[in-house]
Amino acid sequence: MRGIQIKEYVKGPQDLTVTNLPDPVPSSSQYLIAIHASATNFFDLLQIRGKYQHQPPLPWVSGSEFAGTILSVPSALKSPKYKVGDRVFGASQGGYATKVCAPEPALYPVPDGWSFFEAAGLFVTAPTSYGALVTRAGVKEGDVVLVHAAAGGVGLAAVQIAKAFGATVIATAGTAHKLEVAKSFGADHGINYNEKDWPQQVKKLTPKGRGVDIVFDPVGLIDLSTKCIRWNGRLLVIGFAAGNIEKLALNKVLLKNISIVGLHWGAYATNEPETIQPVWDGIFKLIAEKKFRGTVFTDKEFVGLESVGEALQSLGSRGTWGKVVVKVPQEKESKL
Ligand SMILES: NC(=O)c1ccc[n+]([C@@H]2O[C@H](COP(=O)([O-])OP(=O)(O)OC[C@H]3O[C@@H](n4cnc5c(N)ncnc54)[C@H](OP(=O)(O)O)[C@@H]3O)[C@@H](O)[C@H]2O)c1
Repeated sequence: MRGIQIKEYVKGPQDLTVTNLPDPVPSSSQYLIAIHASATNFFDLLQIRGKYQHQPPLPWVSGSEFAGTILSVPSALKSPKYKVGDRVFGASQGGYATKVCAPEPALYPVPDGWSFFEAAGLFVTAPTSYGALVTRAGVKEGDVVLVHAAAGGVGLAAVQIAKAFGATVIATAGTAHKLEVAKSFGADHGINYNEKDWPQQVKKLTPKGRGVDIVFDPVGLIDLSTKCIRWNGRLLVIGFAAGNIEKLALNKVLLKNISIVGLHWGAYATNEPETIQPVWDGIFKLIAEKKFRGTVFTDKEFVGLESVGEALQSLGSRGTWGKVVVKVPQEKESKL
């Protein structure tokens, strides 16, 4: 196969190279998959530099999220869910390659009518945003939901899920273009959070200026968001894209009777596996009802594993929206 192997940590994505490698050998519980599209994640940038919480022993193939077709099924499974040729998406170490191995819980079927390109970016963002808004915060019709970094990967998923449950969505982002993108995915209002008075602007958009019911925060804006949340509101802690882990004066939590709710999707597999399938059932239902679509960044196209470095650079520069996905032609296919 071809792939991006890390033999020693690199300074950045510009140093990544594609080489011919031996095909990965699946264990008795793994499928072998031919990759047709790979999605990029911020943690890939950390991992190639040796700065992620999970670092496999060198050498290893980089990348994680992918979509493709099943090449072989696990020998140890009596009734495998997928057969050779089935279209799947998922995540497993080694997503920047033409082939990867993955166990069954790391795979889902590509939804009907979806391309590999669209499905490659579903595995992380969709359940994170659904688990946060639906499972943790109980979003319901009539709620006003504030989605920060609404044009980001988890942000665009959150906008669509909140809308699908009948909420009014106020989106924030750092540029006018990103706010337009968030609106094209259903956001009702857009506010540039580089403007200092954004909490006041948010409040003004809610009925009688009461504040929002739910805040979805992948950035690190919990403290400022307490200014525009209503009595009994829920603040969802999703991530710290701005780089700071916030500290909060707890009198703010008491005074407005609010809840601060964390969500760590990846940890459900060990702590609460029974919740994973209901979340995916909910996502597939929204997809079937055409209330949730793929969020692939389309301002620029990335084709071939050679373009993974450039795709990761774009992702790291904050110039992209949604999921940055690379098309991966199989070895006998042309790049075009
Ligand atoms: N809790 C979980 O289980 C879970 C799961 C997945 C992801 N996450 C976390 O959620 C966060 C967002 O993930 P994502 O996949 O949506 O990432 P993403 O697509 O890269 O989006 C991040 C967004 O954050 C905004 N941002 C604000 N300040 C930033 C800064 N200083 N540098 C870079 N971006 C900044 C950017 O929007 P503007 O340019 O509009 O400001 C950007 O679009 C990450 O911290 C990630 O680790 C958590």
